[in-house]
Parts: sequence; structure tokens; C-alpha cells
Amino acid sequence: LPTPVIAIDGPSASGKGTVAALVAQALGFHYLDSGSLYRLTALAALRAGIALDDEARVAALAASLPAAFVGGEILLGGEPATEAIRREECSAGASRVAALPAVRAALLERQRAYRQAPGLVADGRDMGSVVFPDAALKVFLTATAEERANRRHKQLIEKGMSANISTLLQDLQERDARDAARSVAPLQKCADAELLDTTQMSIEQAVQAVLTWYRARA
Ligand code: C5P
Repeated sequence: LPTPVIAIDGPSASGKGTVAALVAQALGFHYLDSGSLYRLTALAALRAGIALDDEARVAALAASLPAAFVGGEILLGGEPATEAIRREECSAGASRVAALPAVRAALLERQRAYRQAPGLVADGRDMGSVVFPDAALKVFLTATAEERANRRHKQLIEKGMSANISTLLQDLQERDARDAARSVAPLQKCADAELLDTTQMSIEQAVQAVLTWYRARA
């Protein structure tokens, strides 16, 4: 039997990363945050002074990304990048480089390499549609844009950062529109994906819903 994959896709700030990591923990599976690879690619381009729409050069960077995941820390070229890749500049940059077909192709095998026994939980935009089309379970995890902006706002405030809800909402909506409108691997719910609208759900409830679907299939 192939190593099982649970693919969790959805829009930005939907909480899919948190849910995916907890599901992986509950099952003892590996976890792939595919967005971090696009974020790291954007950060590498910004650091190297490469224009984010220079497809060939950005794809070359993505193909040889000197990234390492050490404990909870993400390193880029040996330097800490965990915090930098979460900044708005990298969020917007990631969604720009992610629209380039050569960049997506450069990251494909790297993502598939995370599929290792006993299993993988992967979150992103195209985990179910492109990277792991044979996933044992596909979930499209979402929440209203207002709720997602509220969650992001709360998160930033807790980290002691300042944030404006209407700016956050606008940034989210711009990024969602770009992710949904691009020609390669656009953000969309696969026909065979379960829809999980978490607008009125706690993290624990969302995790349980995914585990229940998975156990019913396994
Ligand atoms: O998930 P996260 O918000 O960290 O992803 C950052 C950006 O990377 C997204 O806005 C999207 O453009 C891109 N992305 C993607 N495909 C994935 C994961 C992320 O295009 N599988």
C-alpha cells in the first residue's frame, strides 16, 4: 500500500496549518507546510535582489533552496527565517512567485519527498489537486474572510505586534484572489475533497472532524 497522505487545502489564514500539524501529531505522521517553501522562495529572491516576476531566476532559486527545518526553526542559507517568512512582504511575495509555473515545477519533487512512512499530512493550495492527487483524504478547509482576518488579527496582537483588521482583510482578499485566479494549480476545492467550514468551529473540533473522516477511510 502507498504511504497515506492527508491533503488539507484552503485559503490563507484559514487555520489549516494549525489543524494539519495537530492531525499529524495525533496520527504520528510527518507534516508538510508547503506554503513555507513558497515563502522561503520569495524571501530568497528578496534577499538576492531578484525580481519576483523573473520566472527563470526565481525558479532556479526554488530548485536549489538552501532551506533546513531544524526543530521548530526554519533556516535559509543557515540564517533564521521562521519569523521573516511570516511577514506581510513574504506573504504577498509567496503568492506572486507561486503564480509562476516554473517555480511550482521546481518545488514539486521536493514536496513529494515528504511522503514517508507511516504517513504525511500536507497543507497548502494544491496538495489534493496536483502534488498528492492520490491522497487517502482530501479536505478543503475554509472560513469566511472576516473570520480569517479576525483570527490573524488576534494572532498578531498576541505576538505583541500591531495590526489593523481592515488592512488584514484587504491583504487576505487580494492574496485569495491571486491564488484562485492563477492559471496553474489555482486554489479550488477538488470534487473529491471534503468541505470543512471552520467559521463557527474551534481548532479541536476541526481536528476531530479530519480524524473522523480519515479513520472512516483507513
Ligand atoms: O499557506 P501560506 O499562506 O503560507 O502560503 C503562502 C502562499 O504560497 C499562498 O498565498 C499561495 O500563493 C502559495 N502556495 C501555493 N501552493 C501551496 C502552498 C502555498 O501556491 N501548496
